[in-house]
Amino acid sequence: MKEQASPKLPSLDLQPVDRLLVLTGAGISVESGLRTFRGADGLWEGEPVEAVATPEGFEADPDRVWTFYSRLRRVVGGAEPNQAHVALAEAERRLGDDFLLITQNVDGLHQRAGSKRVYEIHGSLWRTRCSRCDRPAFTDTTETTTAPRCDRCGGLLRPDIVWFGEAVDTEADWRTRAFVQAAFRAQTRLVFLAVGTSGAVWPASGFARLAASYGAETWLANLDPADNESDFRHIVRGPATQVVPALLAPPVA
Ligand code: OAD
Repeated sequence: MKEQASPKLPSLDLQPVDRLLVLTGAGISVESGLRTFRGADGLWEGEPVEAVATPEGFEADPDRVWTFYSRLRRVVGGAEPNQAHVALAEAERRLGDDFLLITQNVDGLHQRAGSKRVYEIHGSLWRTRCSRCDRPAFTDTTETTTAPRCDRCGGLLRPDIVWFGEAVDTEADWRTRAFVQAAFRAQTRLVFLAVGTSGAVWPASGFARLAASYGAETWLANLDPADNESDFRHIVRGPATQVVPALLAPPVA
């Protein structure tokens, strides 16, 4: 079913007993001034993806990778959460543990908008880890053009971001599965909402189908058609800052 983004935007009509699972992608942060990944030119913020978002790129030129992510930290640090991020944080305040947000974004804007039950399936721009030893990842805002070294083992430090060819954060993945299974067992209404994602990257691109297999209503709020669009029952086209607050508006008493 295609929903009209205008003149009247649809609402999910969420009741306090409902459960909401949300997946976000780069599109939700566009109106905060950040760019998406899949621009027409195949570049990410002006750099070839394979140079700055693969283990091979890091091995070939770690300084280039650090220069890139340092600039990204500066750009993202200067951006503000938008009305779509805020509407999700408000929905979480109403639903509590019946709300779960999985984001593919590394920008941290959901947390800055007040989201608490948020899992970053592709890591965070604001954490660093060692590429050699198993010291835990740590919060980091460093900006540098020279790859720093681990003070424990001397190996090269790297951003705690999931690059192409690497495994996603397993906690985000299992929490998604546990959430939809719990909703199924409780026989409550389960809504899956994807926002601003092209549906091109596994496993997040499989969440709509997974949720539907546990009885979820599936909604996609995106500007352009997504690769996995046929997995959604409801599609709302439009900018996230307009569509998401409307979808999540509290029901009129
Ligand atoms: P993409 O860049 O693939 O897709 C962004 C989507 O957002 C597109 O389908 C746009 O139509 C949509 N969009 C753009 N502006 C929008 C707006 N204002 N409102 C709503 N939608 C809008 O980004 P992702 O799907 O997030 O992974 O990409 C998934 C992963 O691919 C990323 O997390 C990244 C990349 O490889 C890693 O870094 C591991």
